[in-house]
Amino acid sequence: MCGIIGYVGSEEAAPLLLQSLKRLEYRGYDSAGIAIIRDGRLVRFRRAGKVRDLEDCVRSEETRSTIGIGHTRWATHGAPTDGNAHPHLDCSARLAVVHNGILENYLELRSRLADDGHTFASETDTEVLAHLIEERYRGDLLLAVRQAIAECSGAFAVAVLSEDTPDRIVVAKRGSPLVVALGETGAFVSSDVPALLGKASDVQFLLDDELAEIRSDRFRIVNLDGVEVERPAHRVSIDPVSIQKGGYKHFMLKEICEQPRSTGETIREKQAADGADLLIPSVEGMAACDAVYLVACGTAYHAALVAEYLWEEHLPIPLRAVIASEFRSRRIHVTPKTLVVAISQSGETIDTLMAVRRARESGARVLSLVNAERSAIDRESDAAVYTRAGIEIGVAATKTFTAQIAALGLVGLALAQERGTVPREAVREELRRLTLLPGRITEALRLEPTILELAERLHHARDVLFLARGVLFPIALEGALKLKEISYVHAEGYPAGEMKHGPIALIDEGTPVIMLVSHDVAREKTLSNMEEVKARRGCVVAVTDTPDDPTIRRLADHVLAVPTSSGISLPILFSIPLQLLAYHIAVCRGTDVDQPRNLAKTVTVE
Ligand code: AGP
Repeated sequence: MCGIIGYVGSEEAAPLLLQSLKRLEYRGYDSAGIAIIRDGRLVRFRRAGKVRDLEDCVRSEETRSTIGIGHTRWATHGAPTDGNAHPHLDCSARLAVVHNGILENYLELRSRLADDGHTFASETDTEVLAHLIEERYRGDLLLAVRQAIAECSGAFAVAVLSEDTPDRIVVAKRGSPLVVALGETGAFVSSDVPALLGKASDVQFLLDDELAEIRSDRFRIVNLDGVEVERPAHRVSIDPVSIQKGGYKHFMLKEICEQPRSTGETIREKQAADGADLLIPSVEGMAACDAVYLVACGTAYHAALVAEYLWEEHLPIPLRAVIASEFRSRRIHVTPKTLVVAISQSGETIDTLMAVRRARESGARVLSLVNAERSAIDRESDAAVYTRAGIEIGVAATKTFTAQIAALGLVGLALAQERGTVPREAVREELRRLTLLPGRITEALRLEPTILELAERLHHARDVLFLARGVLFPIALEGALKLKEISYVHAEGYPAGEMKHGPIALIDEGTPVIMLVSHDVAREKTLSNMEEVKARRGCVVAVTDTPDDPTIRRLADHVLAVPTSSGISLPILFSIPLQLLAYHIAVCRGTDVDQPRNLAKTVTVE
């Protein structure tokens, strides 16, 4: 995790670095810092807390400088204190380093450097790098960084600033992402593209074991052997509106409300011009695969589980959603006839990336489904399908989840079509239904005032259960995850039929139990489970497309009616009220909705 930024040019560096760090805060937000060169001397400012705390500390200082590096941190080694905040310095305090990733051999390096007389001021792995570069430095910073990283193992994206070379920044990457770019006022390095919005539009994505030396009017990229690398730049265009709250109190609410558009665009792109056929990139050998693993983490894993249910309708082959970190460590049988589908909003999640590598090493074909084009998972897959959700800034994934379900649903149909296991008319019928989905999501969003009132009643709850069957079970899991991550309320999602095997013990008088009941998914059995909850005096919240059902009217304390649908639309429509409920409960509890404690949006450490 962590975000890094660097700038050298004609603008004042400190305000620019701080503004960019705010855009990178989704990567971590427990401490932040910058280093600049002012009147020929390296000066560092750093602070535990958010970038706005750092801004307060920088405001009162003299920061005239046109070169600097910055960092926003998600702590791995060492608590989030002022002293562990980046940048870290060498012994002479003439050189500063910011780092994203983990240096796995830092203990060994630290002890060797300490024996050689270096003194350490923090508990971080990063500081080792500052001393290692100091040790290697003989007047050529690029060479010193190159030699230093050759001794490091693990993942890193680093930016180095030295008062001995005050006209340049040296950067290097292995594992963690890094882009360099030239803009009108200077050159930049950043962990991602959105931080450069309005500053530069032609970017270069560094590859592993590449370094770059960045000056105000140029940069040059070299590999670990010092050989220069030439590659055409990528033009990126980002809608500036996507990184503003646009009148909403939180990004999360804005993103929830954007779902008619984000799912609509995701679906439209995968339909042929006549609207009746699918346009999905294919991986060689995909149609002949004999097993499919869907690998992902967190919310994306829940989308993978939804896909498992949707795909098994038409694909008579073994299908399995697996949490990416488990996929790596288990002895799951993967062969050249296995298709691995890697799902990730960021395309950077290290566990998912490692699962992709493990799959490819075993000869499997990998299809990725990402929101961030040209991300590592995208680049390392055999083919990619994109969700067109736009940038998601709230740490809690919302619009990217529903876009993943939409895209995965269509990928499953395309695969079944290639294998001849789904009738063409069924595909057309699904596509017809999906054209109605944006309107139906808009209808579901109208539940917000009712959900706000419900949240006001429920927000003191200690435990909340989410129960559902079939394709709605992963939606229950996702509802529980959303509530946990932004409101810090204990929540669990269970298959409704599993409740009596344990979780029913959690139900006490008034315990909120959110039950998802659809006309299309084991309705009768779910209603029996509702009876069981009511018999234990739980507070039943029915999320349903059959609100007039007499059993629901008799048993439910609260009813949230979603539009009736089936197929791919069904799990998407049931997600909307659960997102709104988590959001409003979190707001009632006064948590930091967009940046909940301990989390980071992109998890780039294992
Ligand atoms: C979602 O609300 C979470 N913050 C988290 O579970 C996330 O979905 C997970 O880390 C996977 O991220 P990715 O989609 O970028 O790979």
